[in-house]
Amino acid sequence: MKPNLITKITLCGFLLNGLYSQAQSKLEVNTSKTITKIEPTMYGVFFEDINFAADGGLYAEMVKNRSFEFDDRLMGWKQPKSDKHNYNTESGIAVPVQFSQKGTNHNYCRVTVKDAKGYEIINEGFRGMGVKSGAKYNLTLKAANQSGTISKIIVQLIDKDNKVLGESSIAVSGNSWKEYTTQLTSNATEAKAKLRFTFEGTGVIDLDMISMFPEDTWKGRKNGMRKDLVQLLYDMQPGFLRFPGGCIVEGRTLAQRYQWKKSVGAVEDREILINRWNTEFEHKPTPDYFQSFGLGFFEYFQLSEDIGASPLPILSCGMACQFNTGELVPMDKLDPYVQDAIDLIEFANGGTDTPWGKVRSDMGHPKPFNLKFIGVGNEQWGPDYIERFKVFEKAIKSKYPNITIVSGSGPFPEGDYFEYAQTELKKLNAEIVDEHYYKSPEWFRKNVTRYDNYDRKGPKIFAGEYAAQSVAIASPENKNNWECAFSEAAFMTGMERNAEVVHLTSYAPLFAHEEGWQWTPDMIWFNNLESFGTPNYYVQKMFANNKGTDLLAITQDGKALIGQNDLFASAVKDTNTKEVIVKLVNTSAKAQDISIDLKGTKLESKGKIITLASSDLNDENSFSNPKKLSPKESEYTLKGEKAALNLPAYSVTILKLKIK
Ligand code: AHR
Repeated sequence: MKPNLITKITLCGFLLNGLYSQAQSKLEVNTSKTITKIEPTMYGVFFEDINFAADGGLYAEMVKNRSFEFDDRLMGWKQPKSDKHNYNTESGIAVPVQFSQKGTNHNYCRVTVKDAKGYEIINEGFRGMGVKSGAKYNLTLKAANQSGTISKIIVQLIDKDNKVLGESSIAVSGNSWKEYTTQLTSNATEAKAKLRFTFEGTGVIDLDMISMFPEDTWKGRKNGMRKDLVQLLYDMQPGFLRFPGGCIVEGRTLAQRYQWKKSVGAVEDREILINRWNTEFEHKPTPDYFQSFGLGFFEYFQLSEDIGASPLPILSCGMACQFNTGELVPMDKLDPYVQDAIDLIEFANGGTDTPWGKVRSDMGHPKPFNLKFIGVGNEQWGPDYIERFKVFEKAIKSKYPNITIVSGSGPFPEGDYFEYAQTELKKLNAEIVDEHYYKSPEWFRKNVTRYDNYDRKGPKIFAGEYAAQSVAIASPENKNNWECAFSEAAFMTGMERNAEVVHLTSYAPLFAHEEGWQWTPDMIWFNNLESFGTPNYYVQKMFANNKGTDLLAITQDGKALIGQNDLFASAVKDTNTKEVIVKLVNTSAKAQDISIDLKGTKLESKGKIITLASSDLNDENSFSNPKKLSPKESEYTLKGEKAALNLPAYSVTILKLKIK
């Protein structure tokens, strides 16, 4: 029989229904059976000084090249009435003077003022200075008055049109170096302010370490950090803080590796270094990117403590970045590198009567920092790494058996380098192995079972750097869009389901300056005044704020949710807050009705639902709409033992129910 028009339409309807609607998924959670404990470090943050994350970012210093140590000694400083030699010779000149090859602070600036009314020197800040109306700024500088009649330095905050926003002055006297301080208050909010110095009198004056911080730093600290940026980290409640990177640990050459000992002690004695990201990418040359180390290891430890995160420092293992020079320390010259690791543990945990414990104590923290982890090498690969790792491991464990060592498996999550590292590290009974993946959003959705078959008795995993790339790894076109964020969330349910092997995870990189970035995507974007969390940040925050203490099973027909009906899920219990927490990711373009049978424990009927959703895969947050995509919280009422939920298209949902 041939189908008539009506049967054709009905058939068509069935077909369309089959294509576009999904059967209700019936899930089950056994709330009384703990599969494994969730490590407190499960969700943390990865900090690297890339994208102006430290100088020009988290580190609240506003003066760029404050001690005239950049390769171009006057970079960041302008003498506006310049002649062709760059000096306004009629009214005055500022020239850099090298006073010492030794030590760490090699240069100062000699200012010759010929016409007090005509001469000025201006610092441009890090792509401007962000100042806020009514806010106070503390300026310090060192000066030695060499000759003439200069009696005052007038300091002004000016806007881009040279309008004065705030002013103060410093009376200077004597030809020996002295430190001076003053405070300025801004009468307006301006993202592109500059700092202008003019002089009363004429003559020669030497200047150095010209520094300005907002008074309102995180915890009001003097050598402090930007409050808004630390707040975003604090709100995440991260389990650990990894620092100082990333490739910055390794350096393009060994001489450019991060040496923590040079980052502690008096701030003015910390020798600056070119930032390896200064020249890394042709698409984003950043010639004014240097590391002042004002944000150094003491500050990283202190930050970890402030945000309740376990410190996780990573050190050079004697191999420069293998994407650059790959320079190697010969094995018989590795000792100083190993000693750095041993001394770092003493710096963090040693008594005040130990040499490095005393350094920490003198810096204002007599109590230990409670360091538990140390990382050896960043993204190294091949036999050279394994050979060096063994030496570090032996030395660290023989002195500090309780410190957990983090090793690395290279830059890729599969392939020869990865396989080799996995095999060798397993043979060595490595404790924690760092894995990195910068992959497409599809990869994240498809690899949600990555850890399902990892050996439960083998090394634990630190997913130390990951982020979905909307275009390709390190492409400047990558976006922090919603598809990337929910794909990461889907993957994270897989990491959580495998909490027995996955002990630490972190998105990377963490911060990026709107104008000073080199790498995208990044979790938090900022400019000189504002900052915002990307959708990826909110995914991280939702998971970290709800990590729980005990892993539960969440299944459909006895199987884990790994993408059936585009649904991904994990469930935990929190024995501290007495809650059952279910995380659900719907990666389908359609909303889905689901039911969850919550068996095993009596639950309160009043609960909470947190949802992060958008129907647009390309949605992003921005400075003008910073919370466009941010979690929305609502009440939830449980009727009986089964929770019924409607999961919006492309959504991340967390259901929280109190245990009776
Ligand atoms: O996160 C950016 C870079 O990516 C890190 O420095 C490095 O470890 C990885 O290759």
